Amino acid sequence: MSNTDPGREADQPLLEIRNLHISFATPQGRTQAVRGVNLSMGRERIAVVGESGSGKSITFRSLLGLLPASAEIAADRLHLQGDYLLSLGPRAMRAVRGRRIGMVVQDPKQGLDPLMTIGRQLAEMLKLHGKAPRLGLQRRVHELLADVYIRDPKRVAGLYPHEVSGGMAQRAMLAMMLSAEPDLLIADEATSALDAVVRHRILDLIDEQVRLRGMGLVLISHDLDLVAGYADRVLVMYAGRVVEELQGGQMDAATHPYTRGLLACRPSLDHPGGDLPVLQREAAWLL
Ligand SMILES: Nc1ncnc2c1ncn2[C@@H]1O[C@H](COP(=O)(O)OP(=O)(O)OP(=O)(O)O)[C@@H](O)[C@H]1O
Ligand SMILES: [Mg+2]
Repeated sequence: MSNTDPGREADQPLLEIRNLHISFATPQGRTQAVRGVNLSMGRERIAVVGESGSGKSITFRSLLGLLPASAEIAADRLHLQGDYLLSLGPRAMRAVRGRRIGMVVQDPKQGLDPLMTIGRQLAEMLKLHGKAPRLGLQRRVHELLADVYIRDPKRVAGLYPHEVSGGMAQRAMLAMMLSAEPDLLIADEATSALDAVVRHRILDLIDEQVRLRGMGLVLISHDLDLVAGYADRVLVMYAGRVVEELQGGQMDAATHPYTRGLLACRPSLDHPGGDLPVLQREAAWLL
């Protein structure tokens, strides 16, 4: 399943980020958006939470070479299974995208081609990543759709992305990403556009597939409550930094005032409908 040899995997973390800085050239000068992020992870489930603009997406898009040209990236380590991502050429980078790291984003339409049926896209993806069986390509496509609990895979394979619901498109997108059998799956607000019931179903599905396939998972969200239950560790980002790291299921151990503020926003049965606290923000956290 892994795309690297097991010997290398044994002594390398799946992903290692050390002292990552990302800045952008803007008409007002250079702005620092990520300011010294560290993360070392294996095949585990990491949630990354924090308010809008805290740097969650660009931190992980930088791994895939998906930042605009105005971005400047510097890091002591930005290694995927020992490979320094900032030094990879275009060909090796294409192999990272999809084959080694799969990314599911908020709007599945961004990841799906509107002019191709879902089945054809899956078949192309399998071929692109060298995962197409010599016989029974269509059967494999249907299997992949069934894996993400699409009930009528044959019919759905023949549909175009605009012909399916948001939840179904997100499942199809996930099937596409899983088809390449990546080592690491990044889900960036993958369920934010969906209603609450479908949102949990998709997160359950991601969780199931990650366990089944032994992948690493990075679950990016602004909703701490939603994702905490799906993570072994939770990183809380604020203004381009990781301000706190918590073990999954131990949110109450949070000590950073920003995290405590996020937790205090939770609706609770003891205090239903109370006023939401104003999140504390201090200039000192920006230093
Ligand atoms: N193309 C860009 N040019 C200039 N600055 C940018 C650009 N893209 C991102 N930034 C800066 O980087 C910061 C972090 O952006 P990022 O998209 O990672 O936030 P986020 O935590 O994912 O937020 P959200 O929850 O809204 O998705 C932004 O606040 C913005 O200042
Ligand atoms: Mg984002």
